[in-house]
Amino acid sequence: MPPSLDPPRLFSRGRPSERWGSSLGFVLAAAGSAVGLGNLWGFAYRASQGGGSAFVLLYLLIVVVVCLPVLVAEMVLGRSTGHAPLIAPVTAGGRRWRPLGWMFLASAVGILSYYSVLMGWTGRSLLHALTGPLPADIGGAEAYFIGISTGGDAVLGHLLSLGLTGLVVAAGVRAGIERLTKVAMPLLFVMLLALLLWAAFLPGAVEGYSTFLLRWDPAKLSDPATIRNAFTQAFFSIGTGIGAILAYATYLNRTSPISGEAVAVVGMDTAVGLMAGCVTFPVVASFGLGDVVSGSTVGALFIALPTGLASLGPAGRVVAVVFFLLAYLAAITSAVSLLEVPASSLMDRLGWSRRRAVWLSVAAIAVLGLPSALDVGVLERMDAVFGGVFLIAGGLALALLLGWRAPARYRADLEGSGSPPALVAALLFALRWVSPPAIAVGLVVSIADLARSWAG
Ligand code: PFF
Repeated sequence: MPPSLDPPRLFSRGRPSERWGSSLGFVLAAAGSAVGLGNLWGFAYRASQGGGSAFVLLYLLIVVVVCLPVLVAEMVLGRSTGHAPLIAPVTAGGRRWRPLGWMFLASAVGILSYYSVLMGWTGRSLLHALTGPLPADIGGAEAYFIGISTGGDAVLGHLLSLGLTGLVVAAGVRAGIERLTKVAMPLLFVMLLALLLWAAFLPGAVEGYSTFLLRWDPAKLSDPATIRNAFTQAFFSIGTGIGAILAYATYLNRTSPISGEAVAVVGMDTAVGLMAGCVTFPVVASFGLGDVVSGSTVGALFIALPTGLASLGPAGRVVAVVFFLLAYLAAITSAVSLLEVPASSLMDRLGWSRRRAVWLSVAAIAVLGLPSALDVGVLERMDAVFGGVFLIAGGLALALLLGWRAPARYRADLEGSGSPPALVAALLFALRWVSPPAIAVGLVVSIADLARSWAG
């Protein structure tokens, strides 16, 4: 009898064989993927759109009961199949799950194409804070921001950032990604902690915390804009539903305690979001810049902060340098995980070398990102579609695949790596009964709200 060919044997020509150096290496890399500009820029922007603590509460709830089981599912899918994001869904669910692999690819490429533009702005702002005085007032900051976010500067920043990301990923899992995240993540935490302490002593600190984080209005819990914001922020910030963590999990060994690692990743990500809010809001309140933050997706990070800091003289410049450096580190550790999705998929599907797969992906993403680099409106739409709708839809598909199509795989992988059966049962229950309906509602609200905002 001929040996049975399971679908991946037909599709895969170069199953990944690299491994992480240690469990800590994986956790820091996965936390690096989660912690990114979304924590620093998205959290402040979305938290300031009127939701207050209702937004924060919904966000935390979604993270724990909806995202965590899905994140674990994504890790299980990667480790148990040993295949890249394009192929793993077929291995677990059969040929009918092929579109999910393509969706992972499209989302990761789509997000990275504008994410690297944002990285470019961040790098440019860092250089500016290092070399010259910060803009003196809000008008100056806006004019400066328009200068860096359009035209040649933006394109150059996008290309350089993408090139840097390519260098890290081309160096490999251990020598590139793990080496970077092991240095960058601890550094990021130290810098953020220092900024947090500094911000706590600003005159507007208490007002900042209370206006944005502690304002309680129960009606906001059912407000579609708040729900959409909490959902988008939770999924984008954890970064599940796109295959990046899946790709990382293929390099895990069988004994790695996935559920504990997932909790560590989610905990670090949430901590950074809240800490970043506790830096941004006091600055914003101290200098009366609230409208700048809630009025534009990019306002918080690139306009309000430098303006506020400028009035503090040289000390403000030091803070700006630290802030943009930490933002750049957060961004590049996320960007490498996004690039790993197409790169590992090309290696697995076509048997290409890592270098070839990486640089071809970089070239394609560089071109795809040009419209976002040239027009902020395009960037915002890309974010709404890929970072919003696609990501959440990917999360839903993951919950259905591992909760309903292949629950035995979820259970076996987790129990086999030492998770207590009661915890596995609770996670599986949430994955089957809580995540899918909750994500489906979140998805419908997101699409409807988005359509309304585009129409009006
Ligand atoms: N979580 C990252 C952020 O908050 O900026 C963005 C991101 C990275 C999204 C990786 C998705 C992903 F797969």
